[in-house]
Amino acid sequence: MADFRFMLAAGVCALALATPLHAQTTADADTKADAIVKQMTLDEKINLVFGHYGTVNAKTNPAPPAKAIPYSAGFVYGVPRLGVPDQTETDAGLGVATHRTSPDPRPRTALPSNIATAATWNPKIAYAGGAMIGNEARLSGFNVQLAAGINLLREPRNGRNFEYAGEDPLLAGTMVGQEIKGIQSNHIVSTVKHYAFNDQETERFTANAVIEEAAARQSDLLAFQLAIEAGAPGSVMCSYNRIDGAYGCENAWLLNDVLKKDWGFKGYVMSDWGATHSTIPAALNGLDQESAGASFDKSSYFDAALKEAVENGHVPMARLDDMVHRIARTLIAEGVIDNPVDGDQSAKIDFAAHAQTTLADSEEGIVLLKNSGVLPLKPGVKSIVVIGGHADKGVLSGGGSSQVYPVGGAAIRGGPDAFPGPMVYYPSSPLTALRDKLKVKITYVDGSDVKAAVEAARHADVAIVFGVQWMGESIDAPNLSLPDHQDALITAVAAANRKTVVVLETGGPVTMPWLDKVSGVVEAWYPGTSGGEAIARVLTGEVDPSGHLPSTFPVSEAQLPRPVLDGDPVNPKRVDINYNIEGAAVGYKWYDRQKIKPLFPFGYGLSYTTFAYSGLKATVSNGVVSVTFTVTNIGKVAGQAVPQIYISPNAGGWEAPKRLGGWDKVALKPGESRTVSVSLDPRLLATFDAKGHQWSIAAGDYSLRLSSDAETSVATASVHLDGRTFAAGAR
Ligand code: BGC
Repeated sequence: MADFRFMLAAGVCALALATPLHAQTTADADTKADAIVKQMTLDEKINLVFGHYGTVNAKTNPAPPAKAIPYSAGFVYGVPRLGVPDQTETDAGLGVATHRTSPDPRPRTALPSNIATAATWNPKIAYAGGAMIGNEARLSGFNVQLAAGINLLREPRNGRNFEYAGEDPLLAGTMVGQEIKGIQSNHIVSTVKHYAFNDQETERFTANAVIEEAAARQSDLLAFQLAIEAGAPGSVMCSYNRIDGAYGCENAWLLNDVLKKDWGFKGYVMSDWGATHSTIPAALNGLDQESAGASFDKSSYFDAALKEAVENGHVPMARLDDMVHRIARTLIAEGVIDNPVDGDQSAKIDFAAHAQTTLADSEEGIVLLKNSGVLPLKPGVKSIVVIGGHADKGVLSGGGSSQVYPVGGAAIRGGPDAFPGPMVYYPSSPLTALRDKLKVKITYVDGSDVKAAVEAARHADVAIVFGVQWMGESIDAPNLSLPDHQDALITAVAAANRKTVVVLETGGPVTMPWLDKVSGVVEAWYPGTSGGEAIARVLTGEVDPSGHLPSTFPVSEAQLPRPVLDGDPVNPKRVDINYNIEGAAVGYKWYDRQKIKPLFPFGYGLSYTTFAYSGLKATVSNGVVSVTFTVTNIGKVAGQAVPQIYISPNAGGWEAPKRLGGWDKVALKPGESRTVSVSLDPRLLATFDAKGHQWSIAAGDYSLRLSSDAETSVATASVHLDGRTFAAGAR
């Protein structure tokens, strides 16, 4: 149904609103937004660019706006007389969050962590997950979802890696782009965040990310660029940190030059909560909306101070109009105005269907890292002991503003009282799911007593140890070891029973000093509200594991570009983080360039079946490189292959020997074959020429490797490319 409230506004009647606004062209949205902006008073404009915190806080926010949704992230007043609705903002990328102080959290469906979704390498899964959480946001009364984290995994200890999509710009950009598209299919706005180089939490408010332009454009910025092209988010959330000296939310280069000019971004830039630092520089350098200003920032920069800056001419009215135009045109273009949210409709949420959506995401994201024949659990197995990780109660989730509370209440609500706590386990027990599926004796010991665990393992056919690592916003892991002596527990259990399987629920990569001693390793990440069922389905072989690593797992911290994390978590000192060490050689590119062998390479993942590849051919047509090849399932069970194409210039000259150029995810029954084509984005063939402000493809021969992970190629082809250049925002 079209919403005709616009027509009440004088001067807008002439605009035809017969077709739904979201179906109309970009130009229509701009024209309508202009008409609205023209009628706004200065105070109304200021209202639209100044956000409020949605959650009560005795000190900083004793009285949130009455219309803010309780315990939500934010609220922005609309302009009712002109048909511009209030903006009701919720975190985050894994589902509809409730801020932690709520005595009565909203129960909602949680997707597995974003890194798990990236591990599916299945863009359709990312879209479906986005569409599901966007539906829950809409039915909860929210029209802006602060979703879709994409900061590249430069730092495996980063406390928020679980909210992001791994280390590769193509994989992250593609998957996150689809998530955004899914969310916005509900006619609500999604952000993409945190722009940019907010790649660690230590000193996140003060750290300065140092990186040269070419390296920046070929890495984290490329991930944002690809996600923005694919997902067209209505908003970009600028980050806390500084980038080459200037804060993310007043960084003219990032906001005005790269995002708005080069990439042609037409939406609005909102600040992260507490990331605005000024009025005039922020407004002039590209920030369009201050979030939760009075509660989180040192001062309310975009409230009375911005009004004064406009009145005295420090910020031109045209710039304020541009901010307001961007917000209004986004609400029009995304269909937010045409399809208004209608308060709390959560009784209509189809939780049963959504449990299936998160289950599909979770099970496709689980990565089988090692299997010496112990998995899937076979009918011959008569007794199993499950050890630790609260596997009798549920599965772990990550902490901080993205925390979703589950239907049925938390299985465990523990951890720190203060942010980013609590530590929440979802009530989806892997133990219960295994018991339902396998009619064998399955006992449980909690792992707190190593001797008891060893004793139980000795008397069981198979021991399954759950290794957990809780990560949360605002704190990085001190190191990559499983905390709380779990490495010692696993080592002891594996010594007692060779058939030990380790199931990991971690925020990102961890080290595995016990790897040689165990028979199986499964990385389940934070698997979401259906996670226990997903883990059991993979362990029992009801589903073939088809996840592949979206980030390298190092042997130890010594292999990282920064073996010691920069900054001081206790006494922040405005540290510089030198991202020029690796530049654009993030993740596997770094290991490749340094000739280091990690524990598990990017793209790695085992299956219960075997795939064969044949017929690799590469062609170039109008400068576009495409490859075709055939994948065959030569094993005994149905499965999904993830063939990956890596490309290298034979003459070198890139940040690293090779880059991921494309992939596909192919579901095949035993004996089935499929021919697959993959085309490569020209930017993945190019380097960024910062002086010439353009992408540049060098003439020469290039090798294309058909691979099952970043280290393992099965066939190679080559192409010749003519040299060419294209604009910074072109493809
Ligand atoms: C986080 C954002 C989040 C915001 C609102 C900040 O602390 O960095 O990701 O959207 O809070 O809750």
